[in-house]
Amino acid sequence: MSLPQLPAFPASRPRRLRRTPALRRLVSDVALRPSDLVLPMFVREGIEEPVPVTSMPGVVQHTQESLVKAAAQAVEAGVGGLMLFGIPLRKDARGSGADDPSGVLNVALRRLSAELGDATVLMSDLCLDEFTDHGHCGVLADDGSVDNDATLHRYASMGLAQAEAGAHLLGTSGMMDGQVGAVRAALDAAGHLDTGILGYAPKYASGFYGPFREAVNSTLVGDRKSYQQDPTRTVQEALAEVALDIAEGADIVMVKPALPYLDILRAVADASPVPVAAYQISGEYAMVEAAAERGWLDRERIILETLTSIKRAGASMILTYWAVEVAGLTR
Ligand code: PBG
Repeated sequence: MSLPQLPAFPASRPRRLRRTPALRRLVSDVALRPSDLVLPMFVREGIEEPVPVTSMPGVVQHTQESLVKAAAQAVEAGVGGLMLFGIPLRKDARGSGADDPSGVLNVALRRLSAELGDATVLMSDLCLDEFTDHGHCGVLADDGSVDNDATLHRYASMGLAQAEAGAHLLGTSGMMDGQVGAVRAALDAAGHLDTGILGYAPKYASGFYGPFREAVNSTLVGDRKSYQQDPTRTVQEALAEVALDIAEGADIVMVKPALPYLDILRAVADASPVPVAAYQISGEYAMVEAAAERGWLDRERIILETLTSIKRAGASMILTYWAVEVAGLTR
């Protein structure tokens, strides 16, 4: 068999634009900016020193003092905002620490607000799982199920406490139906018209939250499949969740997790009239750190590649535990 005659050379040569670093830089489309990155931070009550989260190398549970320091450094590094999680000393069935003005998260918000003012965007996790002794995102009904409507009252009260403590944006992450509307109504009634809501709109029941359980000393037995979304559902369900959150008053919507849900992120970014965030969560962080530790992946390169993918899929901002490091790399 004889080979067909080939043309002398291919006419179209995409490799021309890849030949030198300068050419590649010229045609590059997706850029990570430090101000697009939001740093999630943990503050824990009753500790004297920061406590490392072993499944998230480089991440710690802060004391109030170390939190203020690290937050100021992050802002100095140019990150776009901070997302705060609190770990109370005592947990109970209704998550009393969540809306107590002297609860760990509200104290931290007040301190950071006093320290940083409007120099950054202060966000807070608005969910009960860090505060409940059973570890669920809401309060439980007598049969042990998570009670949607009773939980809305707790969220409204928690939202007020966080707004009063100085949060700019409240991250409604509990996946109760009607949560954005309930929090918005409570804020408006109390005159907190300018406090915004970052709605976790599509949020999937994911195994990638694993390391977060350690990060917040969670006691959860079981899973969150009765309220978080099923990964096998289509993108239409995600778009419906987004439409509900926006109708209820969400100022920004977030997709979570990020990397395994880039299809969802792209669809939400195409459809959403409000800015879209993505959360590169604890398990996404842990798997890269673990592989890099073994020398199986080039850590820095993979961090930038995952974040670039999330940006390319349509995120205007990304919550990532690497925010400070990447701000330094991309400045
Ligand atoms: C709810 C909340 C969770 C995360 C952010 N907000 C836990 C969950 O939904 O199970 C996970 C973040 C991460 O895994 O990095 N309080």
